[in-house]
Amino acid sequence: MTTIPPAQPTRSAIEPAVPADLPAVLALLSANGLPHDGLAEHFAAALVARDGDTVVGSAALELYGEAALLRSLAVAEALRGQGLGRQLTTAALELAHSRGVRRVCLLTTTAQGYFPNFGFVPITRAEVEPAVQASAEFTGACPDSAVVLALHLDD
Ligand SMILES: CC(C)(COP(=O)(O)OP(=O)(O)OC[C@H]1O[C@@H](n2cnc3c(N)ncnc32)[C@H](O)[C@@H]1OP(=O)(O)O)[C@@H](O)C(=O)NCCC(=O)NCCS
Repeated sequence: MTTIPPAQPTRSAIEPAVPADLPAVLALLSANGLPHDGLAEHFAAALVARDGDTVVGSAALELYGEAALLRSLAVAEALRGQGLGRQLTTAALELAHSRGVRRVCLLTTTAQGYFPNFGFVPITRAEVEPAVQASAEFTGACPDSAVVLALHLDD
């Protein structure tokens, strides 16, 4: 008798997002109370985690020359605590580095305790590059109470 082996758990793959991923990423952001504003315009620098055909995580960069905004980091609730957030963040930082970014900033109301694991430190809004300050997240989508964190990338 042939024994059928049990299905192996699928490992999530981190990949560049494609335009068709936008609705799934927006749904993930909605589920996590994260803003949509400006993401479509910067989707060329977005990453997704896929479990089979399903988008289970996201991260995106808004690229402004030597500065970038890291945004839209989210992992499906059922898959948290397995390192997907770390993989997405690390991949986004590697992408930023490969694009010549020297400093990555982010705004958060929910995860100020998460990003210091990657070296992010708090800064004031006034210290943020003007192009990043002009982004949709800074000009409206994120509340004034959001914390600003920044990370210098090594050469
Ligand atoms: C933040 C988030 C992306 C982390 O994803 P994840 O895949 O669970 O993260 P990892 O598996 O890489 O890391 C898990 C670790 O981070 C910690 N952590 C997770 N979310 C955290 C948060 N919001 N603040 C502080 N620590 C957090 C966990 O306690 C865990 O710690 P441990 O390793 O000591 O047990 C996920 O919790 C999420 O989608 N949150 C909702 C959306 C959000 O707030 N995004 C940030 C927007 S700026």
